[in-house]
Amino acid sequence: MKATKIVYSKKKAEDYSGEFLVTFVARDSEGVIVADKLITPMLKSLREFKEFTGKKDNSIHLYPGISQSKGLLQCKRLLLLGLGEIGEIADRYEMFEMLRGVGGTIAKECRRNKIETLGMYIPKIKGVDPAAVGENVVAGILLGAYQFLKYKKQDDDDAYPGLKKIEIFSAVASGKIRNGVTRGCNSALAACAARDMANEPGNMWTPTHFAQYAKKAARELDLQCTILEKSQMAKLGMGGIIAVNQGSTEPPKLVILEYNPEKSTETVLLVGKGLTFDSGGISLKPGPGMMDMKYDMCGGAAVLAAMETIAREKPAVKVVALIPSTDNMIGGGALKPGDVITHFGGITSEIENTDAEGRLILADALAYGIEKFQPDYVVDLATLTGAVIIALGHHYSGLMSNNDLLAERLIEAGKVSGEPLWRLPLGDMYAKQIKSQVADIKNTGGRPAGSITAAEYLHKFVGEVPWAHLDIAGTAWDFTEKSYIPKGPSGIGVRTLIELIRQWESD
Ligand code: BES
Ligand code: MN
Ligand code: ZN
Repeated sequence: MKATKIVYSKKKAEDYSGEFLVTFVARDSEGVIVADKLITPMLKSLREFKEFTGKKDNSIHLYPGISQSKGLLQCKRLLLLGLGEIGEIADRYEMFEMLRGVGGTIAKECRRNKIETLGMYIPKIKGVDPAAVGENVVAGILLGAYQFLKYKKQDDDDAYPGLKKIEIFSAVASGKIRNGVTRGCNSALAACAARDMANEPGNMWTPTHFAQYAKKAARELDLQCTILEKSQMAKLGMGGIIAVNQGSTEPPKLVILEYNPEKSTETVLLVGKGLTFDSGGISLKPGPGMMDMKYDMCGGAAVLAAMETIAREKPAVKVVALIPSTDNMIGGGALKPGDVITHFGGITSEIENTDAEGRLILADALAYGIEKFQPDYVVDLATLTGAVIIALGHHYSGLMSNNDLLAERLIEAGKVSGEPLWRLPLGDMYAKQIKSQVADIKNTGGRPAGSITAAEYLHKFVGEVPWAHLDIAGTAWDFTEKSYIPKGPSGIGVRTLIELIRQWESD
């Protein structure tokens, strides 16, 4: 995605002579439309237009040059955007979500009218930190403006080149507001970077691409990058990654990125499933919908994109990212049901279904990451089970954890980010379902509680180390419809991880 430039201007909004000026309108407790000083002179006549209610996401365009407001404003078009009844908003999570939603609506209006530059100010909302308002509105705009055009003809008449510039009138915008806006940009652009990776088809985004992207990021952002190649992984005994890769012609990679702050007390290990295409292997998936399995790398993409922002923001906590990556293909040498493999660290596993491959590559990465980096906390993200869609639909990601503190921090970060998590239990009774007759464990636990038995598989490799597993199979794409979440990959998890690490710093 091409970056949108953000500039601050000391000019007054009424003097902005650009294409598109955004202003905000709300409703008070009586449902009366209230607005910023800038447009109060117009409010009386506006109230006569029934189509403008000031309700959330309700909007109208005015053309000051050809209307009554001539002389008041210099812009070519004015967007009046409803914020709804601010007083009815229950808590800050709902407030942030409303603001991102408004940002997404702005982006939609720009797309509809092919607007490439816009002017806006950060609306004042009583009781809300203006930095947080700026952060969320701007994040919503950038997330909503996302498009993936790489494989489309450039000269298409309908093409919209995208939002190039946002001018923020900041006579009132203090450094604090700018910091908020920058935070919003950093998170949104990282989510868009993850969407870009996910949108790439399986033939164009292979484990090698993950490795190249990570190496480039490391060079630019002063991270340490190590790529473990197939032969090294085989030598280390990473039987899970090697097994899943057996049917493929693409070599697997284990991408490792390290962010080392100057002083640090704790280490957080992030692990993301980077399965670049999941055919199911010999336990082949049915045809319909198989193409969506190019998205099976969304956990890896989230971790990699979040890591870039972490490197930019330099929090006071060490963060290590691991992305085990391969595709899961069929072939003469492919892994078979009934095969027994040995993971890093020695645990053996009987393969009941080659389509339960995510846990195989994550198990090696988790065991290796814990031995090598001795993390205090571990978080993994994976499009791991179809079962989580049955449990939670497309609205919550599943959270499973052996540590209440980490679980709570993640739930909080998810709420702040509009990426809600719902915790599911773990327990020995579930672990029993993955007992094998011939090996230490087997890779499926039957139909009941499929997401939890998958998590219990991972649990065997983290033991007592504080760990949380996010099953994002239902939310990595087809996520809840929102103005700032386009169709296709959502970038889920990126903003939650960034928020988690930001909060870490302030503890
Ligand atoms: N990548 C899939 C999970 C998935 C399914 C993600 C649908 C998004 C949408 C995973 O590798 C998988 O195939 N899991 C199996 C496990 C089963 C064989 C125990 C599943 O969920 O069916
Ligand atoms: Mn699978
Ligand atoms: Zn998979």
